[in-house]
Amino acid sequence: MFEFGPIRLRAWEREDLKKVHEWENDFETMLYSRGMPQQVKSYDAVVKYYEKEMDREDRLHYIIELRSSNETIGTAVIRLHDWGNVRRGNIGTYLDKNYWNKGLGKIITLALLEISFYHLNLEKCEACSIEYNKRAHKVLEDCGFKRYGIERKSVFVLGRKWDWYCFDILREEYIQMREDLLSKILKDEMNEYLERTTLL
Ligand SMILES: CC(C)(COP(=O)(O)OP(=O)(O)OC[C@H]1O[C@@H](n2cnc3c(N)ncnc32)[C@H](O)[C@@H]1OP(=O)(O)O)[C@@H](O)C(=O)NCCC(=O)NCCS
Repeated sequence: MFEFGPIRLRAWEREDLKKVHEWENDFETMLYSRGMPQQVKSYDAVVKYYEKEMDREDRLHYIIELRSSNETIGTAVIRLHDWGNVRRGNIGTYLDKNYWNKGLGKIITLALLEISFYHLNLEKCEACSIEYNKRAHKVLEDCGFKRYGIERKSVFVLGRKWDWYCFDILREEYIQMREDLLSKILKDEMNEYLERTTLL
């Protein structure tokens, strides 16, 4: 479990699957999270997915909870992969719609960067998202990601093709801006986090 400001990232449990099933069938949430938002999923398909993913060592799946109320508000993932000899993680997240635009996405993204660089020792982190997902792009850029490429007209949604935007951040870039990001995004909760995670 990883506690960071107002949120907690913890393991998925079976009792979370009902909520995940609801989110994965919510068109608006999937419109921003998936290339095929109309691909509805049965509860059994969600269970199967969960069982397969939990066996993989190259996936870190998290449920996001509010520390104040223990309410489950979304999911996040780091997909590990090596290309050449560079260890990298591809991150993704979605929140329950009731929690959009409240600053939590940036906090989750920063938590995923802390895990990636300070715990997993990755060299870079990547994230991709559809052209119209301006909110996600703002979150990534505010957390230090840079757009490094565009896969042109790669996703077909709502009657037309859209570009697929790819962002990344290198370990050394993150380390350089870490304190600034922690203070901007975690604000008053930065000191509590640093005190709790500093061993000496
Ligand atoms: C993407 C997501 C995780 C972001 O979390 P969030 O809590 O809503 O984001 P935050 O509140 O931390 O930040 C959103 C920022 O985008 C800005 N924003 C919102 N809509 C915007 C738009 N249409 N254009 C540009 N910026 C926008 C907000 O003003 C805010 O920036 P600010 O803090 O400078 O004002 C969340 O909205 C979500 O789950 N969306 C659906 C799934 C999804 O898109 N997942 C990501 C796929 S890569």
